[in-house]
Amino acid sequence: MPSSSRQTVTVDLSDRSYDIVIGDGVLDEAGARVAPLMGKGPRRVITVTDENVAGLHLARYRAALAAEGIESLDIILPPGEQTKSWQYLELVLEKTLAARIDRGTLMVAFGGGVIGDLAGFAAALALRGIDYVQIPTTLLAQVDSSVGGKTAIDTPQGKNLVGAFHQPKLVLADTGLLATLSERHRRAGFAEVIKYGLIREHCFYEWCAANGNAAIAGDAALLAEAVRRSCEHKADVVQQDEFETTGLRALLNLGHTFGHALEAETGYSERLLHGEAVAIGMVMAFDLSHRMGLVSGQSAGRVKQALASLGMPVDLAALPGLTVDALTAHMAKDKKVKAGTLRFVLVREIGEAFAGSEAPADLVGAVLRDAGAVG
Ligand code: GLY
Repeated sequence: MPSSSRQTVTVDLSDRSYDIVIGDGVLDEAGARVAPLMGKGPRRVITVTDENVAGLHLARYRAALAAEGIESLDIILPPGEQTKSWQYLELVLEKTLAARIDRGTLMVAFGGGVIGDLAGFAAALALRGIDYVQIPTTLLAQVDSSVGGKTAIDTPQGKNLVGAFHQPKLVLADTGLLATLSERHRRAGFAEVIKYGLIREHCFYEWCAANGNAAIAGDAALLAEAVRRSCEHKADVVQQDEFETTGLRALLNLGHTFGHALEAETGYSERLLHGEAVAIGMVMAFDLSHRMGLVSGQSAGRVKQALASLGMPVDLAALPGLTVDALTAHMAKDKKVKAGTLRFVLVREIGEAFAGSEAPADLVGAVLRDAGAVG
């Protein structure tokens, strides 16, 4: 039976509305929560996951489904960003179609951001769109990527350039699973938590700065609060700008233009996790905003200090040899480039981001150089 002690955040999108159910042990309710979403056909779901998550949590998840008489066809993929590719999209679709699915078949994305994005995209494509459920297992996925319906794969041309908006029917965020992450991965995920404060709520930024280290160390109550408050922000933004047309949702990309370039140059590897790239990118976005006369040096400095105090990287000291030219070339491929000008999410103050501004190339270069890039 689902526990009544859960926190639920609703993403209100009229006929595409759905709940994000948050709490320790939600995974054990997967069967009871998924069953009402299933069609009339066989009680079976297609589950996309990775080897790490399967090793840790698949047996428990399957038991939760079995308790409701639901079977799972598991598609277990290698972990890592390289899996978000044409090759694995094709593999997931082939295995899904070979299972003779129909429009009532439900897919479950059980893993971190890579699995959520890939499986969500496969669900958008199979039979022109089947329903899916997100069960995010990382902090990053619980606070950001599992909510809002952005699905994608990476291509040689860049990250997330091929994808679809396809909202899930349900998100189950089991905060107990966060205890199985390394502290480094919780810290990197926390960058996406504090991001909401930096973009739109100064007081949440202060909460993150004060409580971040304890949450990152594994304090379950603080992690659950961080997930809930982040999901409230994400839901509010997605409700107002689902398809990223007004500029509001684009604010969630604070630090991501710089961050994606850093990830691309470091090969989307363990050398630099996505959240670490975002932390450096957010410091750069504040620095750029300061150089453009938009935010005070004091505020930019406070943010850098706060992220450093949470143990996040704030410059390129640990990434020697990255060049301004290579990073700028990656930024030029970013989805936010319009008519050849580099556009960034910028800030007026902590908690007040805005999108769509052009940034002079010499100032972007100066930001990169001061952070440690060569050239
Ligand atoms: N992760 C940014 C967005 O969902 O819009």
